[in-house]
Amino acid sequence: MKGIILAGGLGTRLYPLTHATNKHLLPVYNRPMIFYPVKTLVSAGVTEILIVTSGPHAGHFLRVLKNGKELGVAHLEYAYQEKPDGGIADALLLAEDFADKGPITVILGDNTTDANIASIVKKFKSGAMIFLKKISERGLLKRFGVAVFDENNPQKIKKIEEKPKNPQSQYVATGLYIYDKFVFDHIRACRPSNRGEIEITDVNNLYLKKGALNWEELKGFWSDAGTVETLYKANAFWAGKGGI
Ligand code: TTP
Repeated sequence: MKGIILAGGLGTRLYPLTHATNKHLLPVYNRPMIFYPVKTLVSAGVTEILIVTSGPHAGHFLRVLKNGKELGVAHLEYAYQEKPDGGIADALLLAEDFADKGPITVILGDNTTDANIASIVKKFKSGAMIFLKKISERGLLKRFGVAVFDENNPQKIKKIEEKPKNPQSQYVATGLYIYDKFVFDHIRACRPSNRGEIEITDVNNLYLKKGALNWEELKGFWSDAGTVETLYKANAFWAGKGGI
């Protein structure tokens, strides 16, 4: 299994912090943010990693991560997303050659978690696996893709709604995914949403339509660190834990 970390985007919600460097290099307690998703992958046994980045500070990654050896990465590659805010699915398309028709574990570069997904990575065979997290703050729910479950079968997802006005459950899709080789075809089959991006939620819904979407609840702490509030929350959690 290979791993992809999506670390492009402009990080506009963190201005002025992200005027000087890439969001994923900002500190979360005592480490740059990008170390956390790298650690999640390495702990899951995924040590061949591609980092997709973009924007004016892309070069900073090399100085921070170097060849990744210090973090247990066996092979590290970088890809550059031309349109810095083209979206998550656009960034993922750059991983097609790297994936080389194999399955991939994908994680957003601003997601931090202490969950260990090693057994799920190991068991993965085909289709897509998404990781849901129960969130109680209603305001926060509206920022994510939210699962709608079947009334007759609470284990069965009917669809995932992107940034819903009226969330139908408290389960959000986190920024961790495992995909089979068809993900790139599925991305190409999706049309851009109103905001001009191909939504990863649409890609997941396409897998769902084909009966190939599976899910697990992510255990432990999970938060993105892409807003001032969540960056603070992630810092507080990892400081309390003493870092990774
Ligand atoms: P977002 O937080 O949705 O976007 P952003 O990082 O550009 O931040 P902002 O909305 O504040 O401007 O992206 C979530 C993750 O997805 C982020 O950690 C990096 C990745 N991403 C890309 O790799 N390429 C992209 O084009 C976008 C938009 C995001």
